[in-house]
Amino acid sequence: MDDKTMLMIPGPTPVPERALTALGKHPIGHRTGEFSALIGEVNAALKWLHQTENDVLTLAASGTGAMEAGIINFLSAGDRVVVGSNGKFGDRWAQVAKAYGLNVEMIEAEWGKPLDPEAFRAVLEADTDKTIKAVVITHSETSTGVLNDLEAIVGYIKAHGTALSIVDAVTSLGAYDLKVDELGIDVVGSGSQKGYMIPPGLAFVSVSEKAWTAYATANLPRFYLDLGKYRKTAAKNSTPFTPPINLYFALHAALQMMQNEGLEAIFARHDRLKRATRAAVKAMGLPLFGADECASPAITAVAPVSVKAEDIRSLLSKKFDIALAGGQDHLKGKIFRIGHLGFVSDRDVLTAIAAIEAALIELGHDGVAPGAGIAAAAQVLNAG
Ligand SMILES: Cc1ncc(COP(=O)(O)O)c(C=O)c1O
Repeated sequence: MDDKTMLMIPGPTPVPERALTALGKHPIGHRTGEFSALIGEVNAALKWLHQTENDVLTLAASGTGAMEAGIINFLSAGDRVVVGSNGKFGDRWAQVAKAYGLNVEMIEAEWGKPLDPEAFRAVLEADTDKTIKAVVITHSETSTGVLNDLEAIVGYIKAHGTALSIVDAVTSLGAYDLKVDELGIDVVGSGSQKGYMIPPGLAFVSVSEKAWTAYATANLPRFYLDLGKYRKTAAKNSTPFTPPINLYFALHAALQMMQNEGLEAIFARHDRLKRATRAAVKAMGLPLFGADECASPAITAVAPVSVKAEDIRSLLSKKFDIALAGGQDHLKGKIFRIGHLGFVSDRDVLTAIAAIEAALIELGHDGVAPGAGIAAAAQVLNAG
């Protein structure tokens, strides 16, 4: 049916009516007092969302733009950096760092397993000469639905003393209680099409004072993504280049909605949706990809055996207009991923589970008792 698509992917995520309406407004001049006032409110709300007093800078870019800005502004050619990877986006950090000639050391875990914080402790403690300039990790690894233990890893980075912590929070910001200042994270990148509940096009980078000190001597080439320019103009409620005005309108509306809901309620909702989805998947006799202990609040990956992942996705799309995500790279065709990030409610999860259940029955999946998935999800949702 036209206009009926339901996005249950980890981005782009569904957009609320208020943000959609904001997108349809006439643009205004970006050097006007009216737009300046809006930037001021947006920047204050971004700090609230990041739980930080640091600068949170907004770029016209996708999440990868935030990642690239996070590397090129604070590091110099040949710098030793430790990159954690247990999925596609951890690998992307390494690609960006290598593209700029950094000396990359990997700490890896199998896709579907979390990074081992002890591996970071060992390498950081051994670095008595303080040659490690940064530790770079992905918090919520979207390709597998695994949430890495950021608190533990950042604790070891802080104990090291000089290395910067550079974190991809693209699918954890706005879904998980990410206390940027309390943890003391130096650089945090995210993107608008995720927990922010608006379309793709804006990227966000929070920057600590320690990172700004590194910025002063960092020598990698930078121009459009030179965060110093964004900091200077943000102080005057402005932007260095023409911003996507209407995305700012939408962001303003979405941040207001988030403030009305409250941080605690937002995090509790994501946690509840995660638990309901996982309970339903188990009740339908499908293997989860990744353990409950390290499950992302944004996305649940499922590795079906008796039916093909792509058949489930295809049926959901054709019959129910529900978009699920597939596997990436070597997991293509092996898993499907259910997004429950951003503007997603209990009703959406129940709908997606009901559709998956119907698809499983149609595909002849063994061991699905009709209604079992819905019953399991409802039990979690009712308990709160
Ligand atoms: C964890 C993570 N990091 C980085 C990115 C890259 O963001 P983008 O596709 O907006 O460049 C994504 C996109 O899904 C992501 O999930």
